Amino acid sequence: MNSIKVRQLFDYDTWTYTYLLWCDQTKKCLLIDSVLEQVDRDLTLIKKLDLKLEYVVETHVHADHITGSDTIRSKTGVQVVYGSKTGVEGADIYLDDDELLTLGSHSVKAIHTPGHTSGCTSYYIQGYIFTGDTLFIDGTGRTDFQGGSSSDTYDSITQKIFKYPDCTVVYPGHNYNGFTCSTIAEEKKSNPNVGLHIKKEDFILNESKKERPYPKKFDIAVPANMKCGKTED
Ligand SMILES: [Fe+2]
Repeated sequence: MNSIKVRQLFDYDTWTYTYLLWCDQTKKCLLIDSVLEQVDRDLTLIKKLDLKLEYVVETHVHADHITGSDTIRSKTGVQVVYGSKTGVEGADIYLDDDELLTLGSHSVKAIHTPGHTSGCTSYYIQGYIFTGDTLFIDGTGRTDFQGGSSSDTYDSITQKIFKYPDCTVVYPGHNYNGFTCSTIAEEKKSNPNVGLHIKKEDFILNESKKERPYPKKFDIAVPANMKCGKTED
């Protein structure tokens, strides 16, 4: 059968999920949200599975870790993919809202989901949605820097992400409680921040009251990630 396979990988230092997706028919693959320190792990796995890496794809400009994208591009020659609203320099492909990226016999759809950052992009493929730091399992990404907006987060999730079928599997950018994935139905029903029982004005009010620590790696991660994870010129 011609289908998409998903492998979830984890970075213990920053609690980041990286995803390896591949087309089972053509063995073409892509990585979503690689982490610099895990590049060798990811490339070893791709080799072990006999896959052909085509793209490294990012959900947003991360503040908590440096992406492995530029390093992987240097080592393998693959294309770096970002959403078109990120403001990132040096990517090979910038995807607009609703634009498709071909992966073997399949297409990945970019969905502009601003809120955590102004350029956040989620990706949908065959029953899976990769929500980055926009929608978490039982939570939502912070909205207090990088063009963040709680109003935008609410609209992105309720007007765009929640429009996908209830059975769609949600794969987030992080989880701090040991959960690996969820579904649209579960998040609509029980996400305490943004489930269907929460009104937009309450979400915005709740977000405005949250005090969150300054990310440890912010000052090195954001400038590097604005250049696809390039750490030196
Ligand atoms: Fe983030």
